[in-house]
Amino acid sequence: MKRNLIIFVVITTVISVTYAMGLIPTAATESVSKVLHHSVNPGTLSAAHANLGDNCQACHTPVMGVDTVKCIMCHANNESILQRQPTAFHASVGTCKECHQEHRGLDANLSEMDHSLLTSIGLKALEDAEPGSEEQAARIGLADKLKFANAPHERITLQESVLDCKSCHSNDDQHQGLFGNDCAQCHATDRWTIPEYKHPSTSSTDCNQCHQAPPSHYMMHFKMISAKVAGKPHARVEQCHQCHQTTSWNDIKRAGWYKHH
Ligand code: HEC
Ligand code: HEC
Ligand code: HEC
Ligand code: HEC
Ligand code: HEC
Ligand code: HEC
Ligand code: HEC
Repeated sequence: MKRNLIIFVVITTVISVTYAMGLIPTAATESVSKVLHHSVNPGTLSAAHANLGDNCQACHTPVMGVDTVKCIMCHANNESILQRQPTAFHASVGTCKECHQEHRGLDANLSEMDHSLLTSIGLKALEDAEPGSEEQAARIGLADKLKFANAPHERITLQESVLDCKSCHSNDDQHQGLFGNDCAQCHATDRWTIPEYKHPSTSSTDCNQCHQAPPSHYMMHFKMISAKVAGKPHARVEQCHQCHQTTSWNDIKRAGWYKHH
């Protein structure tokens, strides 16, 4: 499952090369700005960039259009994006404008996640893979999957489902690993909840198939406190249903809401 790793490593090289060449927005002349300005102004910039309103070439380069290098110049030091697992891909992604659309007015949301774009970027980066390399094998594998496989369910596209969700979302896993790493098998990319999902009833005795007890349940605490609070001195840890209900882990059978001291 090194797909993303391969994909994004390739892109990093491209960006650092552009950087090293010193592609800093040099004296892009006043006249360039004027030409751009008077051609078409597609709309007011976002509030965050409002002060760049007269400075079109802060983001644009004639002919090339929006210049990713210029975005990076101003934002390369944003530690908080780079350190959060889901946005760490910013370190090496080679394009910005698709997820950060501009000219939609002061109130517009400047950041919108587009998961399928990640797949296109990855595929594009793998296009030039050396024959016989690991990257080429990955590309062929992906291309085959996109041609012959089906989306795992109807709320996700096949294009999105080939992403390695856990590389960006393993910290969001609510299942303590019990459901495996293939999040796309059950989840879509717009929200984690699953509209058609119905939780098993409180009378189920299989709770431990899908839930893992907290570490305290495997320590003295369990016999000394948990079992006593629940009035079930002989229950074993894996018999969650003896003490718990489905409303909340703190809503203990017979004892009601358990408050921590
Ligand atoms: C903060 C960065 C930024 C500044 C400053 C900026 N733009 Fe843009 N502009 C963008 C982005 C990003 C897009 C493309 C994404 C989109 O569709 O919103 C874009 C798209 C455009 C387009 C559509 C064609 C294309 O290249 O995609 C035009 C024309 C344009 N801008 C003109 C201007 C003019 C004129 C100015 C100055 C008055 C300006 N822009 C200032 C970021 C900027
Ligand atoms: C001249 C410097 C400069 C350039 C060029 C620039 N930005 Fe910004 N950007 C800023 C500043 C300053 C802010 C507001 C403060 C902040 O949030 O860091 C900002 C804010 C943002 C935000 C956060 C908005 C929010 O909701 O708070 C995003 C996303 C962003 N820029 C993306 C881009 C992209 C994509 C480009 C290239 C099309 C770009 N920037 C070009 C300086 C720049
Ligand atoms: C595949 C979509 C995608 C691409 C491509 C992308 N970003 Fe982002 N970026 C996001 C999303 C989504 C967020 C908001 C994360 C959050 O706060 O939940 C974000 C956040 C940011 C922020 C911080 C905004 C804030 O709220 O502080 C900046 C700055 C930024 N991106 C700049 C860039 C730049 C520069 C590029 C190009 C090198 C880029 N992004 C490419 C999706 C993308
Ligand atoms: C390269 C990183 C990356 C990959 C791979 C990725 N995502 Fe995301 N995902 C993000 C970012 C960034 C956001 C925006 C919200 C944020 O910053 O946390 C997001 C948002 C989401 C959200 C919405 C969360 C919310 O609360 O609004 C869901 C659901 C989601 N992703 C599911 C998935 C699934 C399922 C996969 C695999 C098919 C996947 N993602 C693959 C980076 C990624
Ligand atoms: C076998 C199916 C399955 C797999 C695989 C799976 N999940 Fe879930 N997940 C569920 C179900 C069912 C729910 C409950 C949905 C609901 O309540 O609407 C859920 C709920 C969640 C929630 C909480 C939603 C909320 O806000 O209540 C998150 C976050 C989540 N899963 C993340 C992940 C991540 C990350 C992965 C991959 C590492 C993953 N899941 C793998 C089935 C799965
Ligand atoms: C077939 C799998 C499955 C079984 C069996 C199951 N659950 Fe769940 N349960 C889930 C999923 C998926 C979620 C939503 C993701 C999450 O929060 O862990 C969930 C959520 C919960 C929550 C909400 C957690 C929170 O933080 O909001 C509680 C409480 C809960 N279950 C208790 C139980 C109890 C008690 C039993 C047995 C009577 C049980 N579950 C049986 C799958 C299951
Ligand atoms: C003998 C009764 C009993 C059994 C069996 C039991 N628990 Fe608990 N559990 C409790 C009580 C009481 C609490 C609240 C106070 C505490 O931590 O002792 C609790 C707390 C929890 C919490 C909340 C911990 C926190 O820090 O918020 C979770 C999650 C939990 N149990 C999951 C499980 C799961 C999953 C199982 C089965 C694999 C299980 N429990 C089996 C009695 C039990």
